[in-house]
Amino acid sequence: MFQVQARTLARLPSPRNVPRQPIARWHYACRSYQSKPPLKGAIPPLAFAFDIDGVLLRGSQAIPAAKRALTILEGANPTGSKIPYILLTNGGGTSEEARCSKLTSILGFEIGEKQFVQSHTILKTIVDKYANLPVLVLGGRNDEVRKVAEGYGFNKAYTTLDVLAWNPAVWPFHDLTESERQSTKEVDFSQTPIAAAFVFHDPRNWALDIQILCDICQSGGIIGGQYGSGGAAGRDSTPQTGGRRRPELIFCNPDLLWKANFERPRLGQGGFKIAFQAVYKAVTGSEYPYVQFGKPTEATYQFTKKVLHDRFNELYGPVADRPPHVYMVGDNPESDIAGANAAGWSSVLVHTGVYDPQQGPPSHTPTHQASDVEEAVKWAIEREFGKTC
Ligand code: G3P
Ligand code: MG
Repeated sequence: MFQVQARTLARLPSPRNVPRQPIARWHYACRSYQSKPPLKGAIPPLAFAFDIDGVLLRGSQAIPAAKRALTILEGANPTGSKIPYILLTNGGGTSEEARCSKLTSILGFEIGEKQFVQSHTILKTIVDKYANLPVLVLGGRNDEVRKVAEGYGFNKAYTTLDVLAWNPAVWPFHDLTESERQSTKEVDFSQTPIAAAFVFHDPRNWALDIQILCDICQSGGIIGGQYGSGGAAGRDSTPQTGGRRRPELIFCNPDLLWKANFERPRLGQGGFKIAFQAVYKAVTGSEYPYVQFGKPTEATYQFTKKVLHDRFNELYGPVADRPPHVYMVGDNPESDIAGANAAGWSSVLVHTGVYDPQQGPPSHTPTHQASDVEEAVKWAIEREFGKTC
C-alpha cells in the first residue's frame, strides 16, 4: 500500500469537510492552503485508478464529468502538475492499443497502454504456458479475441465459430452469418485436444459457447470425443478424462452486471459463467473448476499495482521512498470497491453506473461516495493535500 511521506508535504494545509466548489472557480478552499499553496511541480501525494463503464463512459459516450476530472489531473490542480492515473476495466475484447486510441479520442486526453489494464491484459503473464497448445478463446465479435490472443502470443487460438464451421451439428440452432464464416479458421477438432478455454470477453452466443465448453470439459478437450468414465462425481473429480488432462477454464471478468447505454444494468460475463456452471452441473452433477481474473481478484489488483507504480515512476522517477496514496474510483461495489479495499487503496463509489443509492447501502463499503468522477477526484485531492493542514 502506498502512503505519502509527511515531510514532503509539511507545508501543505488540510481542509476537512470542505464544501464543493463549482468547477470553473474550483480552487482549494482551505484558508491556510490558499496562503501556502503546494509548490508548483511538487510530486503529487496521490494517484488514481479509474474504472471505465459507469465512471468515464456510458456505452461509447464520455460521461461529461469524466473530461472535467481528467482536466484536473492533467494539470488544473493545486500542484499544476500531472496527477498520475490509470484506467482499470473489466471490459475487453480488443487489443490494448486499439482500446487506448479509442479512449483517447472519446475522452480527449492521451490514454497510453502504460496506463491501461483491461480484463484479459493479465493473460500476458501466463501465455508462455499455452503458447503452442490448442486453446479456445471466447467472447467478443467474430474473431476479434483471437487476434488479441495471437497478439499476446497464443499461437493456436480457436473460436467457437471455428468449431461450428468445422461441424454445424455441434450446435444445430445457429447458422453462421457470412461475417462469422469469414472469421473462421479450418481445423479438425477431432484431432485437436483443447488444453484450455479462455473467456476473454462477454460471449455473444451463450448457448453455442456453453455447448462447446460442456463438450471439451467432459471429454478432456476433444469436441465430440469420449466423455470421461465413472460416476458423475468421478467424472469430474479425476484430472484424467479419457486418458487426457481435462482442459483448464479461465474467466477474465466476473461481473454479473455492468452499466452500458441502457437505463438498467446489463448482464455481464459473470452471468455467462453462472449459466455455464448451472448447465454443466445439471449434466455432470458438479461444477467445473476454473480460474478467475478481473476485478476484484487479487491477481488483477497486484498486476495493476505494478502498472500504476511504473506509470508514477515514468512521470516522477523512482518514488520508492514516498509512493503515492491510491484512489480507485468505480461504479460497481462488487468489483471496483471490494478489490480496491482489499488492495489497501482508498475507494470512491460514484452514482453514474451500476450502483444506485436508492437501492440501499452498497455490498462493499467505500472510503467515500460521490455523485460522479469529477466530485470523486476533487474530494481525493482535497483530502490528500489537506492532510498536512
Ligand atoms: O464488460 C465490461 C463490464 O463488465 C464492466 O466494465 O469498465 O465497469 O470494469 P468496467
Ligand atoms: Mg464500471
